[in-house]
Amino acid sequence: MRILVIGATGTIGAAVADELATRHDVIRASRRGPVRVDMTDPASLDALLAEVGEVDAVVVAAASGGLSPLDTPADADYWSGVEGKLLGQVNLVRRALAHVRDGGSITLTSGRFAEPVPGSSLGYLVNAGLEAFVHSAAIELPRGLRLNAVSPGWVRETLVALGMDPADGTPAVDVARTYVDVVEGDAQGRTFAVEAR
Ligand SMILES: NC(=O)c1ccc[n+]([C@@H]2O[C@H](COP(=O)([O-])OP(=O)(O)OC[C@H]3O[C@@H](n4cnc5c(N)ncnc54)[C@H](OP(=O)(O)O)[C@@H]3O)[C@@H](O)[C@H]2O)c1
Repeated sequence: MRILVIGATGTIGAAVADELATRHDVIRASRRGPVRVDMTDPASLDALLAEVGEVDAVVVAAASGGLSPLDTPADADYWSGVEGKLLGQVNLVRRALAHVRDGGSITLTSGRFAEPVPGSSLGYLVNAGLEAFVHSAAIELPRGLRLNAVSPGWVRETLVALGMDPADGTPAVDVARTYVDVVEGDAQGRTFAVEAR
């Protein structure tokens, strides 16, 4: 398969791209990657898809925004996590429909927290919104196209990078295998919580 991975230089995206590349032709995109795109900019998504042409699958594992405390002074700062992760992935799906070959797939990334922490409410909103979008939008897809989401919990490498206890994290390579299963499988309209393997 010819597969576009957006966020392919990241912790999850790089592992997904590497795992897929063992069997498929992978195009790696990010803001500063070999192929460039900014998920927050619809024109950039159009340019990416025009540049890349037809693909069999698209995977999005691009990060944007961190925690957004409720008392964040500026609305724009509070909502920044919505732009790339929620609106960006929805904008990508709408545009990618015309570029993914018959029977192909689009796989998005949501995520989950073990429990609410201060600043996590927007993340909950974004992830729940994405999963509801995937579930409901899948029935509108033409030509046998599939739409799914992967919901990682903490990734072990991320916990290490943050100086936190990595014990409860899932290694990025195990997270990546969930994406590969979704891309190579036949699931439609579902969200897959990542389990350690
Ligand atoms: N890591 C975790 O523990 C964890 C847990 C649950 C959910 N998630 C979710 O998984 C996704 C990936 O997380 P990650 O930890 O792998 O992130 P990461 O290591 O920070 O990597 C982010 C990737 O996305 C790219 N990127 C960032 N902003 C972008 C934009 N506006 N347009 C295009 N590409 C952009 C980055 O490259 P450039 O900087 O070159 O653009 C990089 O390739 C996120 O949605 C995150 O919320 C992660």
